[in-house]
Amino acid sequence: MRELTIAIDGPASSGKGTVARRVAESLGYAYVDTGAMYRAVGLHALRAAVDPTDALATTRIAEALRFGFDWHKGKLRVLSDREDVTTAIRNEWVGSAASAVAVHPGVRSALLQTQRDLGAGGGVVMDGRDIGTVVLPEADLKIFLDASLEERARRRHAELPGSTYEGVRDELEARDAQDSGRLTAPLRRADDAVHLDTTGRTIDEVVEEVLRLVAAARKERER
Ligand code: DC
Repeated sequence: MRELTIAIDGPASSGKGTVARRVAESLGYAYVDTGAMYRAVGLHALRAAVDPTDALATTRIAEALRFGFDWHKGKLRVLSDREDVTTAIRNEWVGSAASAVAVHPGVRSALLQTQRDLGAGGGVVMDGRDIGTVVLPEADLKIFLDASLEERARRRHAELPGSTYEGVRDELEARDAQDSGRLTAPLRRADDAVHLDTTGRTIDEVVEEVLRLVAAARKERER
């Protein structure tokens, strides 16, 4: 039987990256972090002093980049043009730039085919904002992970030494507004996605619940 395709969407700091990674590892599936692709485009724009709101210039960057994912023993290495950008893309400046470049339809369509190809064979957990709605609308299981703004801000603040809670919360709120308010492929729960609110729940509990949903989806397919 073909292995499942699992789509996990949700806002920043909802826990989707950690949950997706853990679920993929536990199932022996590949993990694809589509946010990392937008982050790589944002990183290259910042380095080239290109304004992330410049649709044409950022689309050219997205079209030219070649991505690679190296998923091994629960760790994901992200490559763009063969450079390992795993660490360089993990900061707030790149996160904001990623959210800004992700507004442009040209940038999104430049990344779409690569994302679909990565999901095509099954046996994959892919996370992002539009996986269940646009990238893999036929996914076998769709999860929408969410948590309150305050809880997400607390989690992010704890991970960022030197940050203030209010600063982190305001940045998250702005990113939510930009990701949900854009015209092309906004952050939105697919009609057939399972909504999981992670507020007040541990990662272990959420991973267990997703694995139960995976088992149920498998049974459903066997019928
Ligand atoms: O998941 P993340 O925080 O690493 O994503 C960074 C930004 O990339 C996010 O603010 C919006 C954009 N993004 C997107 O528009 N669509 C996706 N499928 C994934 C990320």
